[in-house]
Amino acid sequence: MDLEFRASDPFVGPTDLLALPLYSDSEDLRGPLQELDARLEGALDRARRAGDLRGREEEASLFYLPGDDGPSRVVVLGCGSASDADGETFRKLGGRAVRQAEKLFLTEVAVCVPGLAASSSGGEEGRREVSPEEQAVHRVGPDRVVQAVAEGLALAAWDFRELFTEGADQTDDERPPLVTRGRIHAASATDEPGGPDGAGPAAPQGLEEAIRVGEALAAGQNLARNLQARPGNVATPTHLADVALELAEEHGFGSRILGPGEMEEENMGALLSVARGSDQEPRLIVLEHRGGDEDAPPVALVGKGLTFDSGGISLKPAKGMESMKYDMSGGAAVLGAMKAIGLLGLPMNVVGVVPSSENLINGSATKPGDVIRTREGKTVEIINTDAEGRLILADALSYTRDRYDPSAMVDCATLTGACVVALGHHAAALLGNDDELQDEVREAGDLAGERCWPLPLWKPYRKQLKSEVADLKNVGGRPAGSITAGWFLSEFVGGTPWAHLDIAGTAYGDTELPYRRNGAFGFPTRLLVEWVRGRVA
Ligand code: BES
Ligand code: MN
Ligand code: ZN
Repeated sequence: MDLEFRASDPFVGPTDLLALPLYSDSEDLRGPLQELDARLEGALDRARRAGDLRGREEEASLFYLPGDDGPSRVVVLGCGSASDADGETFRKLGGRAVRQAEKLFLTEVAVCVPGLAASSSGGEEGRREVSPEEQAVHRVGPDRVVQAVAEGLALAAWDFRELFTEGADQTDDERPPLVTRGRIHAASATDEPGGPDGAGPAAPQGLEEAIRVGEALAAGQNLARNLQARPGNVATPTHLADVALELAEEHGFGSRILGPGEMEEENMGALLSVARGSDQEPRLIVLEHRGGDEDAPPVALVGKGLTFDSGGISLKPAKGMESMKYDMSGGAAVLGAMKAIGLLGLPMNVVGVVPSSENLINGSATKPGDVIRTREGKTVEIINTDAEGRLILADALSYTRDRYDPSAMVDCATLTGACVVALGHHAAALLGNDDELQDEVREAGDLAGERCWPLPLWKPYRKQLKSEVADLKNVGGRPAGSITAGWFLSEFVGGTPWAHLDIAGTAYGDTELPYRRNGAFGFPTRLLVEWVRGRVA
């Protein structure tokens, strides 16, 4: 999607659809809403007095405007109380604007954010009352508001359509075209709109930049979604490696792709034991963004790239097994985050690592009871071949630590069904060995609108992984399954500050939002990028 920022009055110049937010605690119509009401000869005010337009969340009212100048349609979107507004309010606003455009089969949409222009001029608050619109913008921060609207627009405009054949699909003509252009207008919440030349109040500096940040995050997340949505026969480990190499080309990353031969040399017995059951060769994908000082240690992002999880010999039930194509969601998010980091040119060294394999069944597949040796040297008794994610991550984490000595590592993985039981679909589980790092990750999640919540990695849980024949078992039984999985991973990070995100309940699903469709969510791409951005300063 093409995104543009305009400091000018949204009522000057032609627009197919303009979206305006309305807060439930806005007593009077001001700024652009006042202008709209004037053009409608009081229709807005009448709708408000009739109780049809209260600014409640989810409320949407479409108006058709007379005259040739300005927007032909305006949709007023209820946003709830301005005093509750946060980044997610504005992300959803952008998303809802796109959904309205889709309903009308339009491919362009403009969003106006009242309070954006006034809030930046500063120093005036003492002289007059601060409107709810301005307060909302002020609290979230003008650049964060614009970034969030941009994310909402560009994320909502994404859909996975690459496998439909034109003309062959019965719902072809019911499906609206994708929205390709988005505009964000800054408007004062109080002042008169700009003059006939369209020059409104001066826009704060940096808002242009904020759009680029939002755009980069969305581009990264949309790449992650594409990779997730691709079925297992398309998104194989070699496919992920090819995509990574394209990213390297585009953004000047260093790259390293390990195949079975290199994995043997690295003694990656855990990753190889999972790949053994499949005809598809595994890959360990490494991308290096070198934006910082040459000798500064990087931060590392590691993502599970299991392109299809049948469970192996410990076969999963047939029902819903198709969703196990999403078992590479962590790897997809890492590649998406690397794309965003490359687009932003962050002044940091960042390495992205994706161990990728299928978990299938053939005559050589690993069996329950087998004992394998990890790259780290520790032996593991395989109790359940369906606990494969921790195995491929074990070798990837140990490799990343030894090879890069990162200042911190964050991994993300669709690791355990237990995580879905514990936290459902609205937060990832967060575990790790460093409280400060965990706080950073949690805050990055809040900022990004991709929440995570801690589970304790306390010592007594470790006992559940004790084996009679090897250093560790690969499963710790039913109780606290996400925690024992975290304990397993922690055995392979040494003393490196490390955080683990279990995204089994949040990476994909049917919990759609205005800016995300059911299916692939690209979670936690935005969280990862915000975490890295937070480390820049
Ligand atoms: N990929 C699954 C975890 C998963 C489950 C992701 C549901 C998304 C939705 C993982 O490889 C797995 O199978 N984990 C097992 C571990 C168990 C055998 C200890 C699980 O959670 O059942
Ligand atoms: Mn599994
Ligand atoms: Zn899995």
